[in-house]
Amino acid sequence: MIKNRSLQIKNIFLPTFTMRMKKKLIQNLVISLIIVLSQFQFSCETDRNSRGYEYFPEMVYSKAYETYAPNPVFPDGKTAQPPVKGTIPANMVPYQYPNTPEGMRLAGLELINPFEPNKENLARGKFEYDIFCANCHGFDGRGDGNLYANGTYPSEPPSLITEEILNIPAGELFHIMIFGSAIMGPFASLIRSEDKWKVILYMKQELSRKNLNTAQ
Ligand code: HEC
Repeated sequence: MIKNRSLQIKNIFLPTFTMRMKKKLIQNLVISLIIVLSQFQFSCETDRNSRGYEYFPEMVYSKAYETYAPNPVFPDGKTAQPPVKGTIPANMVPYQYPNTPEGMRLAGLELINPFEPNKENLARGKFEYDIFCANCHGFDGRGDGNLYANGTYPSEPPSLITEEILNIPAGELFHIMIFGSAIMGPFASLIRSEDKWKVILYMKQELSRKNLNTAQ
């Protein structure tokens, strides 16, 4: 009797599987497995030109305005707005001298080359000089650069290895590189400020001294 009762309780809480239930369970498992496996077929698109299905289109199509899309919010109707007037890019030091002879004179008086003429800086100066200046002023600074020598550039570039050029204050050379000089174009945005100073180091310390004696 007692034995029977415990069996009854067990039956309530831990139902034993009947053969039919087991069969049904296995059947369900097999069906789910087939469904899961069949998804692989669709999940990997074989056509490389198709993006396949989009499950979360909100992530693809931004609700925000695209940079170059029209925009009714701004008065000029553009999404991309120019920087606020007077904005200075990070790490940029604005150049304060005007493009006038007086500005050049002041730059020569007030600006000091912040770099030492050590091996590294001179090498960097030569690197930049050879890229930006040598094609006109020549690798040795004699004004016989390739662009002039082969007739492409009409105006004769002056020699940079004369006493005269050596005596131009570094600040004036910096000024000339920023604004250009007469027919020579400006290098303001082509060469970084620190590299302009290194080109000047190279011109004054190495290029001129190396070639001055052999010039003319
Ligand atoms: C496209 C050719 C060209 C290139 C490149 C060029 N220059 Fe010149 N440069 C000239 C010409 C031409 C002149 C003469 C302009 C003038 O009448 O003042 C000149 C003049 C100069 C002068 C003398 C200015 C003066 O008042 O006597 C200096 C210094 C100078 N260049 C430095 C450089 C430096 C440094 C570079 C490289 C960053 C460079 N140039 C690149 C063509 C060039």
